[in-house]
Amino acid sequence: MSNVYYAPGEARAAKVNALFARIARRYDLINDLQSFGLHRGWKRRVANLARVAPGDRALDLCCGTGDIAFALAHCGADVTGLDFNPQMLEVATARARKAEGGARQARDKEQDPNSPAPRSATRTPRFLPGDAQQAPFAENTFDIVTVGYGLRNLVSWERGLEEMRRVARPGARLIVLDFGKPSNAAWRAIYFAHLKMSVPLIGLLFCGDASAYAYILESLKHYPAQLIVAAKMRELKLANVRVINLLGGAMAINYGEK
Ligand SMILES: C[S@@+](CC[C@H](N)C(=O)[O-])C[C@H]1O[C@@H](n2cnc3c(N)ncnc32)[C@H](O)[C@@H]1O
Repeated sequence: MSNVYYAPGEARAAKVNALFARIARRYDLINDLQSFGLHRGWKRRVANLARVAPGDRALDLCCGTGDIAFALAHCGADVTGLDFNPQMLEVATARARKAEGGARQARDKEQDPNSPAPRSATRTPRFLPGDAQQAPFAENTFDIVTVGYGLRNLVSWERGLEEMRRVARPGARLIVLDFGKPSNAAWRAIYFAHLKMSVPLIGLLFCGDASAYAYILESLKHYPAQLIVAAKMRELKLANVRVINLLGGAMAINYGEK
């Protein structure tokens, strides 16, 4: 039986939106539980691969609660996070407000001549509502364009990738992080069993919704994953295309340069 949060074609967006509206408040907690906290390191890896230079503008598509946007901002980028789900953006914006408050306190401390607090260069991302398949930006705008666990959720992942390329400047780094499909059959079976059983159970226990988390496997079945994404990057004439497999390909980062 198909998942209640999955629909083929154009109907998909509304279902995906409903799913994230449902889980937004628990999203960060469940990410930590289902990945044993590992997603934090993978997102830092994305930010490191972006090689942020002073003054770089970054766009994080499908930003959700903002993990990758904050990681890029931490490296010094001027970051915009875009997402179509109001509830996820609400969490991201609350985090940004909190980070701003912390930064303000640090600045006040720096102005206190008795305080040894170091100067912080961290910026805070801005978060905007919008569709990743029709990003509201001119072409050649960003030095870095990322998407984490987002491409797989789009009506058309190819369209999402084309949009990443369109808004990227020549020389920009394009980076995709998502669930992957391990090439080793035994490992793939174990990993898919985790997605089929433990992950929905975590969803049920901590969010009251097993289907929302069973959706991950369902969406992965309809997503071609790392090798085909790399082929599409080459078709889009991106340079230095590479795949970085994490956990034996259970997760993957696709990298390319415009
Ligand atoms: C699994 S979350 C990923 C959040 C974040 N990038 C992360 O790595 O934790 C997927 C996000 O994609 C967003 N999303 C899905 N389809 C979208 C679309 N067409 N345009 C913008 N955001 C979309 C959802 O609202 C959700 O916040």
